[in-house]
Amino acid sequence: MTRLRSLLFVPGDRPERMAKAALLEADALILDLEDSVTPAAKSAARAAIAGFLAEPRRQMLFVRVNPLDSGLLDDDLAAVLPARPDGIVLPKAEGGASVAALAARLSGPALILPIATETPAAIFSMGSYVGVSERLCGLTWGAEDLPAAIGASSSREADGSYTAPYQLARSLTLFGAHAAGVPAIETVYPDFRDTEGLAAYAARGRRDGFTGMMAIHPTQVPVINAAFSPSEAEIANARAIVDLFAANPGAGALSFDGNMIDAPHLKAAQALLVRAGSLSA
Ligand code: COA
Ligand code: MG
Repeated sequence: MTRLRSLLFVPGDRPERMAKAALLEADALILDLEDSVTPAAKSAARAAIAGFLAEPRRQMLFVRVNPLDSGLLDDDLAAVLPARPDGIVLPKAEGGASVAALAARLSGPALILPIATETPAAIFSMGSYVGVSERLCGLTWGAEDLPAAIGASSSREADGSYTAPYQLARSLTLFGAHAAGVPAIETVYPDFRDTEGLAAYAARGRRDGFTGMMAIHPTQVPVINAAFSPSEAEIANARAIVDLFAANPGAGALSFDGNMIDAPHLKAAQALLVRAGSLSA
């Protein structure tokens, strides 16, 4: 699969922003029919997205549809599926059952990227994405809808970091994705003027095992791409580890730069080289 470092949201009722987004280096766009579009604008947004999908594309194009129980999903899919989006982002997903329900309504090759933490019940379904559908292409999370659903006044501490309930949601997404063998995608960083804060946030995500992140504003795209691209030094380091094991075929544990390395280090080095495009999967 193409790498998914940055996925930029564009409201579905803003076709001029879609045209701008198409020129950016985002790996994917998420054309939104859900929360950024008012009920009155849904119909125009469906038409605008279908029109944009019909044009030649140089990014993966996802459509965020309305939730399974919204009463809007059939019209969303009827409008966009004929133009063959690369994927569907499913908000308010509640585990593998939601993915299966959406997959049953899809035609064509569309992938599915669930937003996996937007309802209280969703939190208890994070282990159920394993093996549910070939269409599942990742797992992502959100910290905007869940606080409203449980009557929390905020998802954030005074310093901007997530409170414990949302750190739990984030961690479950990370492990749920990896249990299912798909990429874990970080949620948006809403303060789009704060690129330094974004860089630090994205770096933490990468450190923890996320391999991409959603964006809401053009300025965020290069920051996210950089954060989720291995540096030259990391590639060289990984290459050295892979080469060292290759040169010592019988050895399970080796000494490298004064540290012990064994099977998990080799696995991590190989995965990094695959992500960097310098080793085939
Ligand atoms: N995609 C493409 N272009 C975008 C964009 C986006 N998501 N967000 C902003 N731009 C463009 C603007 O059109 C503007 O272009 P211009 O300089 O040619 O006029 C430029 O980037 C600067 O925009 P700015 O004035 O800084 O932002 P804004 O105040 O107009 O809009 C948001 C701010 C948050 C409303 C806007 O970034 C946005 O719509 N983001 C996506 C929201 C969304 O989809 N949310 C749902 C998921 S959380
Ligand atoms: Mg939402």
